[in-house]
Amino acid sequence: MPIEYEPFSARWRGDPYPAYRELRDRAPVHFAPESGCWCISRYEDVLHVVNHPEDFSSRAMFTVLMNGGHDGPPPFSWRMTSFLVRFALRTRMNPLGFPKARNLIASDPPVHGTLRGIVNRGFTPRRIQAWEPRIRALAHESVARLASGEPFDVVRDLAIPLPVTIIAEMLGVERERLADFKRWSDVIISAMTGPLRGFPPHPHVIEVFLELDTYLARVIRRRRRAPSDDLVSALLAEEPGGQKLSTMEIMQFVMLLLVAGNETTTNLIGNAASALLDHPAELERVAQDLSLVPDLVEETLRYDAPVQIVFRTALREVVLRDVVIPEGATVAAMLGAANRDERRFPEPDRFDVGRDTRGHLGFGFGQHFCLGASLARLEARVALEALVPHLRHARRASPDRSVLDSFLVRGPSRLELRPAA
Ligand code: HEM
Repeated sequence: MPIEYEPFSARWRGDPYPAYRELRDRAPVHFAPESGCWCISRYEDVLHVVNHPEDFSSRAMFTVLMNGGHDGPPPFSWRMTSFLVRFALRTRMNPLGFPKARNLIASDPPVHGTLRGIVNRGFTPRRIQAWEPRIRALAHESVARLASGEPFDVVRDLAIPLPVTIIAEMLGVERERLADFKRWSDVIISAMTGPLRGFPPHPHVIEVFLELDTYLARVIRRRRRAPSDDLVSALLAEEPGGQKLSTMEIMQFVMLLLVAGNETTTNLIGNAASALLDHPAELERVAQDLSLVPDLVEETLRYDAPVQIVFRTALREVVLRDVVIPEGATVAAMLGAANRDERRFPEPDRFDVGRDTRGHLGFGFGQHFCLGASLARLEARVALEALVPHLRHARRASPDRSVLDSFLVRGPSRLELRPAA
């Protein structure tokens, strides 16, 4: 029987893992006709794809995620024209520069190396580490509600607010704009991988892009005049003989941070809490010894990867496991499936905090390895250190297992707790 699997379909979202097993065993290079994607599911093959940018370009990350699946310049529409005019008036920038702006996640060598060298400045270990006290304060403040017996939803009350507050503060967003910043972030994520996805963009998405772009253009202008200690100033700083980003490139990068850095970390925290509730022995093990939390974080990244897929474009005809992938095809490198490959991880469907997780692909691999990995690890560790001692005295308040409506990221849409009887 032929295998049915479509990477953009909601049909497999609840529990994709049985389908992933079938794919790995019976169709490791699977063509999904509806989406036109070639789905790669075995560990060794996924690693090969993300490690060979000369054959598999990251251009698809732009086409699939940022352009609503649309390749090439936008066709004429009044909605887009009105957006471009309003963009120019409000930001005082030429919107036609947008397609020419270099974009980190969608670029290939050598451009990628140049961009990565610039943005790395904002993510040095010293810069990230300095956020630990603030992350701890936010985590404890939110977990205190659980401790005091108030209704508590791990996703709503801890996993969502923590990363978005931290990234906003890293960017120097004013306190009074935090609620706007959260709203912009939600809409942009939904426009890229969720229900608001489409091309030309949904009118509501266009309005939010305008608000965010106007705000960012102003912030960048202000930081150029008066640098401070925030991430935008670090990106603007000119180093002797160094490369720099244009204002448009910084705006694109900040948008990438909103998408790449928020829902992903939210899902890591949500997936870890959910896995612990499903595996009481592992929960007890970690609660007895909180020094195991970093191992818990790594096992969650393997067992239930927050980012399930990355996309690439085949730059030439490539033969993989005797299957011909045509030039120009969109390739879905399925990180979530690779992490459950028994050829790489023994008993992959067992959630085991003590296992050797080295080599998991939760943060990708190679040149595009997650820029925010150390921030995500820090946030997840601190959040879970605060949560786990209370989790052992709690149960799921509802049998509801609904997950986010997204083909890219995976995690619970809510996780309400009640005290254990
Ligand atoms: C658990 C949380 C996270 C997960 C699972 C995750 C996962 C990933 C993955 C799989 C990639 C590789 C994409 C590819 O190969 O095409 C990636 C790249 C990236 N991530 Fe993360 N991420 C997380 C958190 C963050 C955070 C907190 C930030 C920043 C604040 C961030 C920023 C980025 C950026 C900028 C890239 C692009 C890097 C490049 O192209 O060189 N991520 N992430």
